[in-house]
Amino acid sequence: MKKGEKGILIGIAVFSITMMLAQGIMISQETEKDPGIPFYSTAPKEVQLQASVLYKKYDCRDCHSLWGLRNIMQAVPAPSLDGMGSLRSEEWLYTYFSAEDPQAILPSRLKPRFRMPSFSHLPESERRLLARYVASLKVEDWYLKETQKAAYEKLTGEEYKP
Ligand code: HEC
Repeated sequence: MKKGEKGILIGIAVFSITMMLAQGIMISQETEKDPGIPFYSTAPKEVQLQASVLYKKYDCRDCHSLWGLRNIMQAVPAPSLDGMGSLRSEEWLYTYFSAEDPQAILPSRLKPRFRMPSFSHLPESERRLLARYVASLKVEDWYLKETQKAAYEKLTGEEYKP
């Protein structure tokens, strides 16, 4: 084999290996799909719109975050409402919003002005709408599992094996 031919052969080999690697990377990127935001609402658009009006009117966002957003001027350590419907049922939420003393249902260690206020004075239709909307706020299973895993490993320092 002449020197020039050898060079060409090596060139072709290097080129094909590079192409194979590039293809491999592209394929692995395709299958490893972006999981996206883990929160979503199952409520019809109508319900979501009506509920967001109440949500603003009653200043829920002063204390809670939703879709990752909250009033940054307030620093109330209230739970985030994202995914709340995976934790609480619509009936539970309706009872909670209707309670004259919400802390009798969910005890609080916070200062009284930071605690969940009673919304028992709201018209029944508004309490029902809020309960329906909050119950529709779900979180994807994979996110719950990852959160559980991270919390377990942080607490125990051991690998999580479900
Ligand atoms: C003054 C702050 C504040 C406001 C305003 C407020 N919340 Fe709360 N909320 C809290 C706190 C704090 C808790 C946790 C329980 C406690 O400490 O009383 C809570 C608890 C909750 C829970 C139960 C969470 C769980 O873990 O089960 C839901 C649901 C909820 N709030 C929804 C709402 C909605 C909807 C509104 C508006 C209509 C609202 N909150 C307005 C502070 C607030």
